[in-house]
Amino acid sequence: MTARIIDGAACAARLRETIAAEIEALPASARRPGLAVVLMGENPASQVYVRNKGVATRKAGMVSTEHRLAADASEAELLALVASLNADPGVDGVLVQLPLPGHIQVARVLAAIDPDKDVDGFHALNVGRLWGGEVGLIPCTPRGCMKLIAEVAPRLAGMTAVVLGRSGIVGKPMTQLLLAADCTVTIAHSRTRDLPGVCRQADILVSAVGVPGLVKADFIKPGAIVIDVGINRLDGEDGKTRLVGDVDFAEAVEVAGAITPVPGGVGPMTIACLLENTLIAYKRREGLGG
Ligand code: GUN
Repeated sequence: MTARIIDGAACAARLRETIAAEIEALPASARRPGLAVVLMGENPASQVYVRNKGVATRKAGMVSTEHRLAADASEAELLALVASLNADPGVDGVLVQLPLPGHIQVARVLAAIDPDKDVDGFHALNVGRLWGGEVGLIPCTPRGCMKLIAEVAPRLAGMTAVVLGRSGIVGKPMTQLLLAADCTVTIAHSRTRDLPGVCRQADILVSAVGVPGLVKADFIKPGAIVIDVGINRLDGEDGKTRLVGDVDFAEAVEVAGAITPVPGGVGPMTIACLLENTLIAYKRREGLGG
């Protein structure tokens, strides 16, 4: 039996439509939600991500602003820009695109973002809120993964989940969201003994390691839900770049019960959840709930 394919593009499109409808329904006199994105340097992948974020933000009816700094700008300049966006009443979300050039201390920059405008959910206060079960802003990619899991399994209580990868952006927050949904959660990583055996315990397997094709059929419990967060660029023989995930899709689709493809799985959800976080931040700042 082949797995059900979880269509992240369709799920993201539905979420974007819901957000756009909510913004459309705001009174004409109301301020629109605003997202400010900071891009430092010329990283080609980051330029594509930032452009896509701007397009999606405007399509949803929000105000999008993009702020560029040269790769050799100082940390003080970047911090001053963040401070001005924190103080700007028209800005509800501040996102500093990562990675940053080597001379910048990422932790200092993330700590400078107003936690109530931290639509990435990377500020230590929001990290702590997530671990403490309090209301904050949740990182976009894990938030999107939870929505994709909900497409095929509305109730997760008692399920065994394995998160492959321990990054602060995906792996660690993902474990907290699964735990909050009453899963029994394991984090596995490059030093885990018997990685296939550990992963094979999982009713829900989330892979976020950035190793193309690492997850083979023997990592997967028959019928499991497999969420592939990997976005790996491989050079094809035709000279074109191909996007592949962490999961060997051709093998996994024969064993899993449900699986996200790459592209068209988790990727589109990240931007849709960024818009959702921006709308939440807006509503909280405007005293509209959220
Ligand atoms: N670079 C790659 N993914 C992300 C993300 O989710 N947020 C930010 N700020 N930078 C990224």
